[in-house]
Amino acid sequence: MASRPEARFRALLWTAVIFVVVFVCLQFIRPELTNPPVTAELQAPPEVKQVLKNSCYNCHSNETKLPWFDKVVPAYWVVTSDVTEARKHLNFSEIGKLPAAQQKGFLFEAVNMIQLGAMPLPSYLRVHPGASVTPEELAVLRNYLTAPPAAEAAKPAATDVNVADVEYGKWIHESKAESTPAMNVKPEFNGVAYVPDYKNWKVISSTDRFDNHTLREVLGNDVAVKAIAENHINPWPDGTMFAKVAWAQSQPDERGVVKTGAFVQVELMIKDAKKYASTEGWGFGRWRGTDLKPYGKDASFQNECTNCHAPMAKNDYAYTMPIGGQE
Ligand code: HEC
Ligand code: HEC
Repeated sequence: MASRPEARFRALLWTAVIFVVVFVCLQFIRPELTNPPVTAELQAPPEVKQVLKNSCYNCHSNETKLPWFDKVVPAYWVVTSDVTEARKHLNFSEIGKLPAAQQKGFLFEAVNMIQLGAMPLPSYLRVHPGASVTPEELAVLRNYLTAPPAAEAAKPAATDVNVADVEYGKWIHESKAESTPAMNVKPEFNGVAYVPDYKNWKVISSTDRFDNHTLREVLGNDVAVKAIAENHINPWPDGTMFAKVAWAQSQPDERGVVKTGAFVQVELMIKDAKKYASTEGWGFGRWRGTDLKPYGKDASFQNECTNCHAPMAKNDYAYTMPIGGQE
């Protein structure tokens, strides 16, 4: 009779042994993560770099230093893929070769991301709380960016900012007239279809445009506009659609002035709580370049979207705060 608990104990022991063996074997499946040489590090004062080193360099530089617990699979797989992706978007070890104005441009975007709670990636912060950017550190970055430039000429004059705005407005206007139906745009890998009509939607928010560096606009369809008017924006009603349009900035001219450049991409968020339940109730899509190529290799691209929109969970995953809508 005494053999029954014993048998159970043996089964348990074996399960544990198999688990450990599998776990150890998995450790050998390791994608390579190297630190290429630092060719042109960001040029900024040491106190600015210190903040970025502490919170961002692990992913956005060639000086990745992983603590031991990041080297254990499966955490290692997640971190490796984050680092690879992050370096592609922004690599502080390489942007030092760009003109000063453009380096600052990246920092403006960085501050925006920090302020919105999108960076460092929230999933990373949960495991690495020390990487969070404190209000004091944020102030260091902001002070650096808003300090008057050494040469007054480097500051874009109000008229130049206006010129950029006018050019931008012209594009919006022209693209409305443009006949896109002829263009056969493929749906995203998750099945979300492109909606050419976004150009006729209302601009509901332009994001923090610090120095006119950020050339992007958020538009909303009729359902979104109505929801804003009635203050029914949490959750947003089914049928709500957002578009975020992004522009390249032209190379800064000899005075460091950056103007609206080519169309980069349009992103869509389409609300349908049931249909898109697995992605927080939103269908995500991103189409890049003038040929509007669906972004990603397969439907897993949408993990990037949901991961980065996660800090706004309390706001139904939308970053855009309609003016007058909240606070
Ligand atoms: C855990 C890794 C990780 C850390 C740490 C991290 N990022 Fe990122 N970051 C990413 C990834 C991954 C992307 C690419 C996401 C995407 O657009 O698909 C990204 C993208 C960005 C982008 C570009 C977005 C775009 O549209 O091109 C900026 C700017 C940025 N991060 C700033 C920062 C700043 C500033 C910090 C530090 C305060 C930081 N990140 C920390 C992983 C990280
Ligand atoms: C690196 C972080 C990040 C990633 C990755 C990301 N977003 Fe966003 N998204 C933002 C931020 C921040 C905003 C707020 C506007 C701004 O500052 O550009 C935003 C705004 C938007 C908006 C306007 C509505 C709103 O929430 O304010 C849409 C549409 C959108 N994103 C779609 C997408 C899609 C589709 C993807 C994936 C292909 C994606 N986003 C991935 C950070 C991100």
